[in-house]
Amino acid sequence: MVMAAPGVFPRRVLLGVTGGIAAYKTPHLVRALVKAGAEVQVVMTPAAHDFVSPLVLSTLSKRPVLTEMVQQQPGTAVWNDHVHLARWADLLLIAPATAHTLAKMAHGLCDNLLLACWLSAECPVFAAPAMDLEMYQDQAVRANLALLQERGVHLIGPEEGELASGLYGLGRMTGPEAIVEQLITSLASRSPLAGKQVLVTAGPTREAIDPVRYIGNRSTGKMGFALAAEAAARGAKVELITGPVALRSDHPAIRRTDVESAAEMARSAKAQFPHCDVAILSAAVADWRPVQAASSKMKKGEQAPALVLEPTEDILAWMGSEKRPGQVLVGFALETDNERAHAEGKLARKNLDLVVLNSLRDAGAGFGHDTNKVALIDARKNYAELPLMTKTDVARAILDRIEILLSHAK
Ligand code: CTP
Repeated sequence: MVMAAPGVFPRRVLLGVTGGIAAYKTPHLVRALVKAGAEVQVVMTPAAHDFVSPLVLSTLSKRPVLTEMVQQQPGTAVWNDHVHLARWADLLLIAPATAHTLAKMAHGLCDNLLLACWLSAECPVFAAPAMDLEMYQDQAVRANLALLQERGVHLIGPEEGELASGLYGLGRMTGPEAIVEQLITSLASRSPLAGKQVLVTAGPTREAIDPVRYIGNRSTGKMGFALAAEAAARGAKVELITGPVALRSDHPAIRRTDVESAAEMARSAKAQFPHCDVAILSAAVADWRPVQAASSKMKKGEQAPALVLEPTEDILAWMGSEKRPGQVLVGFALETDNERAHAEGKLARKNLDLVVLNSLRDAGAGFGHDTNKVALIDARKNYAELPLMTKTDVARAILDRIEILLSHAK
């Protein structure tokens, strides 16, 4: 079965929904954001409740929709902490953004939870204005939009088309899919990885015993594919060299080369290495291969054959010795005892910038799981143990660290 690689859309999105007719499109917007890999927390203004049901939005986002600063519940009151919400978010998207909300944003008014979140937000803010055409052309609205843009708010749309009034013109909210596409493009171009060449090795290798049998391992490639997807989402051009896996890599910025043996992987990776800015070697490469693969299928003899093995080339060690200044080299280490010391030894021996220490001890980590538990150790001996997370989140954490290393490497 062919499985989709993990989603590429990065972030925790705080979606502000305000009271305009275009709010009827927001269930689709939530779905598009979730499909792209985001966790979505919806905050509605009171007026938005007239246009779209909070029940629909909370069902699709799998989180309660928030509107009030203080939520009255029988016998108690719950304070919706706007500071916490703003800090939680990697991105604030206000869609639709009405003329009224845009005006309040431009002038620092704070009469609802969404505006409190906006005033507390330090993350990138995007707004998708939606209003009728004369309203959109009004001088006060234009001045408010210009002010917000000047202060760093990214505007998405509006677009030209038929409006709810029946008029035709500029003012229609950009469609949900197009909003998500613009977010992806915009976020990708902000990363230090934008425009960089990233090489990723993934999956297992197979070392032939004869035309039918091979020595392999349990790697599924999920971690490597998540890394490739995340690097592409941040605007990198990715060379993904993978052993045999049942995963798809759909992003147009990922060029995929399928290989089978450690020797094929080495040939392909070594050819790409001089052109890359970052190399992440997550493949589980066989350390040994049969000296000679039989040319025809070995028959069951009386005696079991003895396999004579020889070492494969260590691609990571080769890259460490060939690395030029500015290149960032990342290796993985799978250790079972003295984990940290062994991983630090590998980092030094192979001249790495970062080593990802994989755990096999923890439930839910390692081969085949959708989750992983790793520690990151860099060449400055910074050590960070990460909790059990999805492989997509682990990929994000690794690439966050690589972004820092890239800025040091300049
Ligand atoms: N690796 C590689 N080429 C190989 C073997 C491993 O590029 N022929 C890379 C893996 O992709 C991974 C790292 O080396 O990034 C870790 O490999 P591992 O087998 O754990 O470490 P070794 O260096 O083989 O050391 P040891 O067996 O002593 O743990």
